[in-house]
Amino acid sequence: MSSIPEQLRLKFDRALVDAFGEELAGTDPLLASTNNPKFGDYQANLAMSLAKRLKQKPRDIAQQIVDRLEVSEICEPPEIAGPGFINLRLKREFLEAQLQKMQGSDRLGIDPTETPQTTVVDFSSPNIAKEMHVGHLRSTIIGDAIARVLEFHGDNVLRLNHVGDWGTQFGMLITYLREAYPDALTQPDALDIGDLVAFYKKAKIRFDEDPEFQETARNTVVKLQSGDTETRQAWELLCDQSRREFQKIYDRLDVQLQERGESFYNEMLPQVVEDLEKQGLVVEDQGAKCVFLEGYKNKEGNPQPLIVQKSDGGYNYATTDLAALRYRIREDGAQRVVYVVDAGQGTHFDQVFQVARRAGWIPEGVEATHVPFGLVQGEDGKKLKTRSGETIRLKDLLDEAVRRARADLEKRLQEEGRQESEEFIENVANVVGLSSVKYADLSQNRTSNYIFSYDKMLSLQGNTAPYLLYAFVRVQGISRKGAIDFENLGEVSMSLQEEPEFVLAKHLLSLSEILDEVASELLPNRLCQYLFELSQKFNQFYDKCPVLQAEEPLRTSRLVLCDLSARTLKLGLSLLGIEVLERM
Ligand code: ARG
Repeated sequence: MSSIPEQLRLKFDRALVDAFGEELAGTDPLLASTNNPKFGDYQANLAMSLAKRLKQKPRDIAQQIVDRLEVSEICEPPEIAGPGFINLRLKREFLEAQLQKMQGSDRLGIDPTETPQTTVVDFSSPNIAKEMHVGHLRSTIIGDAIARVLEFHGDNVLRLNHVGDWGTQFGMLITYLREAYPDALTQPDALDIGDLVAFYKKAKIRFDEDPEFQETARNTVVKLQSGDTETRQAWELLCDQSRREFQKIYDRLDVQLQERGESFYNEMLPQVVEDLEKQGLVVEDQGAKCVFLEGYKNKEGNPQPLIVQKSDGGYNYATTDLAALRYRIREDGAQRVVYVVDAGQGTHFDQVFQVARRAGWIPEGVEATHVPFGLVQGEDGKKLKTRSGETIRLKDLLDEAVRRARADLEKRLQEEGRQESEEFIENVANVVGLSSVKYADLSQNRTSNYIFSYDKMLSLQGNTAPYLLYAFVRVQGISRKGAIDFENLGEVSMSLQEEPEFVLAKHLLSLSEILDEVASELLPNRLCQYLFELSQKFNQFYDKCPVLQAEEPLRTSRLVLCDLSARTLKLGLSLLGIEVLERM
């Protein structure tokens, strides 16, 4: 079953063609949800926009459409209002039938798309031997949610981790590895570098103080690039060490990623530059190979170059991204490539996409998009730091969220005089802590900066993970209290009576529109907002309408509303990478 607007769009299309001929096929009916229930549920605004083209008054156009609009199964008779709005009110029987279908489907009545796309989601992408910082955490959380939504949508998703595992810094790191851990290569299993970030800092100090070290480091870069076996091994060793650290975070967050780091594209770089040259896009400027960009000027007002090969023969971050984009489209068959990377890299992606487009590497119909996000700030509005002013390690940040969730829980248990096992406490604290971090991030419009506040994200009130988890728990409570097996409610015939039931029913049935929207606009906060409103509407319904105490057939019908609310929450949260709890 397709979303309600989707079903209505088909009806409008038929009416339009019928009234004004084939040329109008595919015209967007400009459907919008009405913000005032007085005008029904949806409003179609196309009559106004067709006036010029059809040389008729909007109200007359609206009338001709309405005369041919066959929506009697879905809506009450349409009404024309104001200059030519067509107002539609969903019929009770239709809502009831839709809910019944939704209940009988394990995808809640949402079919996978008929036009699946191969989509690359490039996300997380930390750098070897450098801090995996909160920016990477944001990318990991947002990228994972986007990938999950697209997977559910039916797309063929490739989750790629574009790890920064190549570059001149490895000369320094390998030289230091040999110096500080001479046995590393012969006994790699015994190697425990520990904190690679600290390792990086020490290597940097050696590099800065000792010209001989610098010389060795530079030679090591050359050896690494030419594929010298031992140097390669040392590089592998460092990558493995980092990889293990990253993996711990991914496991905790339940994030799947396929690593395809920058080094993967290394061998393709000369060809990329050569192909750009063949197309006449490359200009040599002081020994460097450049593509001059359209629409970018430097301070003097001259065209700005994108350097694709430096004068020393080395390649840049951008060259690798050009190779990666081309590979993803040609070899992976991607029709859509999305980059979940901080907003600060907007210019970089814009330039890379421009050059790739001019080179003809992004064919018609293929989309390359930067999905930017803002900074994570401390409660003082400045960059998130520890009290002593250092960057926060992700592990510590997650631990702290879990620790606080546990403290909140223990306090609540005490107040309520509840006894729970250690296993229960640990699990609830873990789920609440981690989902709060995820949800706080996802519920913001990703393009803005967001203020990291443990207190806000862990609150049981407001648009938070605990509030949503609690709504789910409430339904589980109903099932326990009434000994209800939601999976076997028997013969169900829906019956909507009270206003809160209608409000909840309509909201439940709009999930598929929201998911379509998130899949196209890549804004997970839309899904968060939907789930938040669902929890509110469920709570209002549950406060106003007796469920277990109601008479049949109302009782079963209301139980279905409870069940659908819980299943929708569970599905929606799972698409955000958040698991639910039976009790909390
Ligand atoms: N490693 C980069 C960083 O930490 C992010 C890479 C993003 N992806 C890409 N294809 N450039 O800033």
